[in-house]
Amino acid sequence: LAEDGHELWLRYRPLTGAAQARLLAEAREVVPLAAPSPTLQAAVQELRRGIAGLAGREPALTSRLRAGALVLVTRSQAPPGLVLPWSELGAEGYVLRRVHLRGQAVTVIAANGDLGLLYGSFAWLRAVQTGAHPAHVDTQSAPRIGLRLLNHWDNLDRHVERGYAGASLWDWWKLPDILDPRYVDYARANASLGLNGAVLNNVNAKADSLTAPFIAKAAALAAVFRPYGVRVYLSARFSAPVELGGLPTADPLDPAVRAWWQVKADEIYRAMPDFGGFLVKANSEGQPGPQDYGRSHADGANMLAQALAPHGGVVLWRAFVYAADASDRAGQAFAEFQPLDGRFAPNVIVQVKNGPIDFQPREPFHPLFGAMPRTPLALELQITKEYLGFSTHLVHLGPLFQEVLRADTGQGGTVARVVDGTLHGQRVTAIAGVANTGADRNWCGSHFDQANWYAFGRLAWDPDQDARTVARDWVAQTFTAQPAARDAIVQMMLASREAVVDYMTPLGLHHLMATGHHHGPGPWVDDLARADWNPTYFHRAGRDGIGFDRTATGSNAVAQYAAPVAQRWADPRTTPPELLLWFHHLPWDYGMPSGRTLWAELIARYDRGVATVEDMARRWQALKPDVDAERHADVAAHLAVQLREARWWRDACIAYFQSVSGLPLPAGTRPPG
Ligand code: GCU
Repeated sequence: LAEDGHELWLRYRPLTGAAQARLLAEAREVVPLAAPSPTLQAAVQELRRGIAGLAGREPALTSRLRAGALVLVTRSQAPPGLVLPWSELGAEGYVLRRVHLRGQAVTVIAANGDLGLLYGSFAWLRAVQTGAHPAHVDTQSAPRIGLRLLNHWDNLDRHVERGYAGASLWDWWKLPDILDPRYVDYARANASLGLNGAVLNNVNAKADSLTAPFIAKAAALAAVFRPYGVRVYLSARFSAPVELGGLPTADPLDPAVRAWWQVKADEIYRAMPDFGGFLVKANSEGQPGPQDYGRSHADGANMLAQALAPHGGVVLWRAFVYAADASDRAGQAFAEFQPLDGRFAPNVIVQVKNGPIDFQPREPFHPLFGAMPRTPLALELQITKEYLGFSTHLVHLGPLFQEVLRADTGQGGTVARVVDGTLHGQRVTAIAGVANTGADRNWCGSHFDQANWYAFGRLAWDPDQDARTVARDWVAQTFTAQPAARDAIVQMMLASREAVVDYMTPLGLHHLMATGHHHGPGPWVDDLARADWNPTYFHRAGRDGIGFDRTATGSNAVAQYAAPVAQRWADPRTTPPELLLWFHHLPWDYGMPSGRTLWAELIARYDRGVATVEDMARRWQALKPDVDAERHADVAAHLAVQLREARWWRDACIAYFQSVSGLPLPAGTRPPG
C-alpha cells in the first residue's frame, strides 16, 4: 500500500532490531486488571495492534501476572501494595510506571477508570514510538481542560465550510445503518490525543440537524465513538422552534419556545444519553438569535442551558459576533459580552476565538480573556487553515496555539489559566478546534496538516506543553524518529508559522486576503457590500501611512485590554513590531527598532517570509533519503505551490502598497517579480 497518510500518526511501523527486543521484553503479555468494558477492550486492542506493529509480534492477552507484563490496572482492581498517586489522576488521567507487583517486574498503565487506561495506552505507545526505552517510561498525566472538542463545520450535504480535505467524514445518507470503518479510526485518533468531544455539524446550522432522522444518525456516530470517550455535540439553530416546531417565534422568554427546546433535549438524550450539548452561533453573520427578539445572549444561552441541565449537557455559546455598523469589528464581541459577565447559567460556556477578528495568521489575544471572571470561557482555535493558505501551504500551527495560550492577559494570568479555569476558579472548562478533517485519504488535505490536528489535541490536554516537543513527537510517530531527520523536519514546521505571517500579513496587518474564499492576496479590495469585509478597511493604507488606529485617537479598542496590556499596546514604541499595525496607523517613514523605516521593514518582512519558504523547500529536498518516496514527493509538490504563492503574496502586496505610498523601493531591494 502506498504511504498516503491514511494511518495518521498511529502507524506503528517496525522498530529497529534492538529496540524490538527491548520492547518485547517489557510487553510480553497484556494483562487487564480492570472491569471489562468496551473502553478497556479498545485499550487492549490498541496495545496489541501497536506492539504487533512496532515489535513484530502480537503480545498475548492473559490474566497471569509475570515479569515483562504490561498491566492495565484501575484503582478499584489494584492489587494491594500498588501505591500510586491515584487521587491526582481524576477521571481521565493515568500513570505509566515500572513497578513490582506480586514480586514481578511489570509495567503498569494505571488509572481511576477505563478511559484513563485508554489514554494511558496511547501515551505508552507514543513513548515507545518516539524512542523511549520501554523499561524507563515513567509518566503521570491528567488533562487540564475538561471539554476538549473538535468543531466540525460540516454541512448535512457533506460540504465542509472552510474545509480543504474533501467531503465531510460523516456520510449522512448512509447513516445510521452503514458505518464507515473510518469512524472508528477517527475516534482512535482523537482518543490518542485525549480529545473527548466532537460537534458534528456546522455552526452555520440548519434546523434539519435537530430532526428525528438526523438525531438517529448522530446517535449512530455517538455509539461508535463512545468506547473512545468521544462525546457527540450538535450545533443548534436558534430559530429551530419556528422552522421545525411551527411556532410563531423563537423568543427565548416565550414559554412555548422554552417547552419546545425542553422536549427536543429530552428526545436527543433518549437517543444519546451522554450527548455533550449545543454549540450556538447566534446573531452573527446573519444567523438567528435572541437579539431578533430584543433579548440578550445570556437570555438565549440560559434558555438552552435550562433544557440541557437535567441531562448534564452544556451550551457553548459563541462570542464571534459583529455587525455592519460597528465602528471597529475588533471591539464588538467585548462590547456585547463583557457586560453579561455573571449572567450566564452554570452550564453555559462562552466560546471565544483566539483573536478579536477572525483566525488571522497573527492576532493579539481576544480581550475577553481575563475580562469575564464569572463566566467560563472556552478558547476556539481554527485547525483548518482558512486564512493561512488552506491545506496547500505548510504552516504548522503549534506555535500559534502556544502563543495565544501563553499570552498574559494582564489580569493575573495567561489565556491558558483563564481557559483551564485556574485563574477564576471555573469548574467547567473547554477548548475547541475547528477541525480540518475530511474524506481525503490523508484525512486533512496534506500530510503536514495532520500535525495541526495533533498539536491542537496535545495542547488541549496540556496547554503548557511546548510546541516543539509536540511537533517532535508527531514527526517521530509520522515520519521518522531518527534524531537528525526528525529535528530537521521540526525546524521546518516551527519556522513555517512566522513565514506565513511575513509573506501574508507582517507587522500586525490582517485580513488582506482576497474576497470570500480567503486564498491569495487582495489588499486592494474595497468594494464589498460591507465596509468591514474590505481589506482596505483593515490596513487603512494611504499616502500618509498604514495601519488601523485602535488607540484613543482611533477606535480605542486597545482600551478593552487590562491596564498593563492596554498601556503597552497604546504606544507604538512599546508595541511589539508583530502587532504594530494592528493598533497603530503610522507614517511610512516611522522609525522601526531595526533602524529601518516602516516602509523598508514591511518589504524586508515580506522578503523574509519568501526566503523562509525557500529554505523549507531546500531542507525538504535534503530529507529525501529519510522519507518514503510517496510522501516526500507529495510534500515537495505542496512546497512548490507554497513558494509560488508566497512570492505572489509578497509581490502583489508590495506593488499595491507602493501604489498607495508612492514611495520607491528602498535601495538594495530587488524589484518584485
Ligand atoms: C469566518 C468564516 C466563516 C465562519 C465564521 C464563524 O468568518 O469565514 O465561514 O462561518 O468564521 O466562525 O462563524
